[in-house]
Amino acid sequence: MKAIGILGSPRREGNCSKMLTACLEELSTAGFETDLIYLQEKKIRYCLGCGTCLSEGECLLKDEMIELREELRKANALILASPVYFFNVSAQMKCFIDRMVAFGHRPRLKGYGGAIVSYAGVGDPELVANYLSRVLKTWGIWPVGYAIGFGVLPGEVKREDLDRARDLGKRISNAFKENLRPEIKEEDIVLRNQLIKLITNYKEYMKADYEFWKSKI
Ligand SMILES: Cc1cc2nc3c(=O)[nH]c(=O)nc-3n(C[C@H](O)[C@H](O)[C@H](O)COP(=O)(O)O)c2cc1C
Repeated sequence: MKAIGILGSPRREGNCSKMLTACLEELSTAGFETDLIYLQEKKIRYCLGCGTCLSEGECLLKDEMIELREELRKANALILASPVYFFNVSAQMKCFIDRMVAFGHRPRLKGYGGAIVSYAGVGDPELVANYLSRVLKTWGIWPVGYAIGFGVLPGEVKREDLDRARDLGKRISNAFKENLRPEIKEEDIVLRNQLIKLITNYKEYMKADYEFWKSKI
């Protein structure tokens, strides 16, 4: 089993980083192979919005996202970590998410367990956690939960925050051990129906997506 943590904070030793590390350590103790990816250190270009990945199946841009997507395919659990930046995720995290658009249209990480870590100066980490939860779902990943905390300076992370992050790691490993699956909610059905409607409406354009979905709808 492999768990990958994706860090969206530019601070290598920041609060999200410490929490993500604690979560991954717990998973490692539970027998997972773990890896932490610092988006800040990756050369990832902005999505061009050209739609080539939706029509032809592959992204036009040849950068470090190629390798990163391959790594994600090998993982069983994915933990996204981002600080709150202006009521949302960091630019690094958003750029990464946009470059995963084909994974959202043709969920290729189906069945993987996911979780979220977020840190804020004063407010809205739940907003980020809920947003990232939704993103994980579009990739086919069931989010197990999230761990959040508050503080401004790097390394201000508290013992209780780290405990919550470790607990999140435990919840992820238990979910795998006990083969837990999330209940399907109304919002999940809405999300799936929206996607199918989009792809059907634009099937001449989103050819690769339509090929993927046509036998399923
Ligand atoms: C550009 C920027 C925007 C921020 N926006 C918010 C915000 O909207 N709300 C908030 O509570 N904190 C905000 N913060 C504070 C960070 O969330 C906080 O410093 C957090 O601890 C950073 O986590 P990190 O150490 O993992 O990078 C912002 C910080 C920066 C640098």
